Amino acid sequence: MSEPLVLTEVRGRVALLTLNRPKALNALSNEVIDQLAEAMRAFDADDAIGAMVLTGSEKAFAAGADISAMQGWNYMDVYKQDYLGGNWESLKRIRKPVIAAVSGYALGGGCELAMQCDFIIAADSARFGQPEIKLGVIPGYGGTQRLPRAVSKAKAMDLILTARMMDADEAERAGLVSRVVPQERLMDEAMEAATIIASMSLPSVIMAKECVNAAYESNLNESLMFERRNFHALFSTDDQKEGMKAFVEKRKPEFKHQ
Ligand code: CAA
Repeated sequence: MSEPLVLTEVRGRVALLTLNRPKALNALSNEVIDQLAEAMRAFDADDAIGAMVLTGSEKAFAAGADISAMQGWNYMDVYKQDYLGGNWESLKRIRKPVIAAVSGYALGGGCELAMQCDFIIAADSARFGQPEIKLGVIPGYGGTQRLPRAVSKAKAMDLILTARMMDADEAERAGLVSRVVPQERLMDEAMEAATIIASMSLPSVIMAKECVNAAYESNLNESLMFERRNFHALFSTDDQKEGMKAFVEKRKPEFKHQ
């Protein structure tokens, strides 16, 4: 049996997924993405899980899509397999929060995979970039769309057109990452954040994620209505009753995730 390309572990209500192709700096092949999507879908469907953390190795979160696999492909090869669709694209449909814990390189498809997560916590060693232009292509896994939304058009153009990398501090200033921590704190910080999220009422967490994504993906009026309707809907849950009652009674809520 060959080594799994994605390692999984459950700690409390948090699932940890680790890309495991260290010799190729976690280059994302179809096989890596198939295993990742399958594991994430299983955790998404598991009532015992409230949040996920996706990480790589210390040297690389992921150094991009697998260039060795792509090098011989022609237009019909990528078109017919809908390369970067299928399981690649399916990750955006995961409903539970996914935190990317990024150490080292997050380049090309690796940066795009991190951006597909709900937020990024970076080690001070992290390096982000979209260097596809050096290979005679462009970002194809959302980079030209998500990067300008995250960091402004100016910085996205700079990174995508020059292929330069930005370090963790620049990525935080630009808004791509939510926190930068010393390398040795990365996993604790990400797991603690995921544990906090997983302790919240799951319906509220999923609706909050859907609403923030609506802000990110559609226009303001539609998104405000979407937010209000979801806010209203949460008044049908036991957790809303319990959460508000517990506040009034000055105690911790006991959520049942329903
Ligand atoms: N695909 C396949 N293999 C990769 C890879 C990738 N994206 N990135 C690194 N590797 C492999 C290298 O070929 C090398 O393998 P061997 O040991 O068998 O030679 C191994 O990982 C280690 O890499 P390096 O020796 O290059 O390590 P380094 O420390 O000298 O450099 C690096 C690190 C700067 C990240 C460099 O590896 C690099 O530039 N990688 C490619 C980055 C890139 O161009 N990414 C974009 C890919 S295209 C894409 O992602 C399209 C899309 O939008 C989806």
